[in-house]
Amino acid sequence: MSARPTPIIMDCDPGHDDALAILLAAANPAVELLAITTVAGNQTMEKCTLNARRICSVAGITDVPIASGASEPLLGSLHIGEYVHGASGLDGPAWGEPTVPVSAEHAVDLMARLLAEHPEPVTLVPTGPLTNVALLLKTRPELMGKIGEIVLMGGSTERGNDTPYAEFNMKVDPEAADIVFRSGLHVTMVGLNVTHQALAVPEVIERLGGLGTRMGDLCVELLTFFSASYLRTWGFTSPPLHDAVAVARVIDPTLVECIPAPVAIETMGRYTSGATCVDLHHLTGEPDNALVGMKLDAPKFWDLMLEAVASYE
Ligand code: RIB
Ligand code: CA
Repeated sequence: MSARPTPIIMDCDPGHDDALAILLAAANPAVELLAITTVAGNQTMEKCTLNARRICSVAGITDVPIASGASEPLLGSLHIGEYVHGASGLDGPAWGEPTVPVSAEHAVDLMARLLAEHPEPVTLVPTGPLTNVALLLKTRPELMGKIGEIVLMGGSTERGNDTPYAEFNMKVDPEAADIVFRSGLHVTMVGLNVTHQALAVPEVIERLGGLGTRMGDLCVELLTFFSASYLRTWGFTSPPLHDAVAVARVIDPTLVECIPAPVAIETMGRYTSGATCVDLHHLTGEPDNALVGMKLDAPKFWDLMLEAVASYE
């Protein structure tokens, strides 16, 4: 008897890797995708919302509500990832008009309503800046008991990508990240140190193209653009599919080996704001407040990803 699927809400900033993470979350029977909420990050909130609608429209994901959320971080001004995801936030393919609508509800209101209504605790899977999640925790603290876990893509046990010491999602809204990591909730951090093990190498691109489907071809187009950004910006020969690793951790926790550790968010550093200070050797005496992803079973991850993409036309 298979276990009941884990109910999840994805809070994202599509974004090429967010888009494939949505495909994985919507296709895999181990999770039940209750909603997609969007947050400004890779692009403006408006463009990220349009991109969530685009990928869901093409994939035929019509039963998952999409709600838009914060258009800027809690403090400071928005800093977008156009240098990686392009002017649209999902550059590469030619997109038609989306057919999937956006909800009239604000993302935080939709998350709160679903948490209140769902009979069991829900896992939040943020794959963008944590602004919406922080707003939820601060404005609806009575619902924290309905959050089973937060499995987020962000941070790093090593160096950053958006700045030398800060990963993009954490850098956009360090204060929001600080709120989440100090919340006392079960937080799993899927950081760059583990997502950089999920490289869409040529063999993966060939497997996607070999599906001979419209979705397979669309993923090739997305990853081709994403690959060029990664080569130009960081000298990567293949792009890491960051956000899908967080979803994969929920689907099958054995895919991502994690260790408990204290994680603090730098919010004051002139050069280090947004850094995730992961105390791997417990030097600070601080308590563990997160599970930190360390090792990915990459072959199994890509089999899961290919299986998901193959389930679409
Ligand atoms: O640093 C990588 C993260 O930032 C990913 O979630 C990517 O989509 C961007 O949001
Ligand atoms: Ca993202």
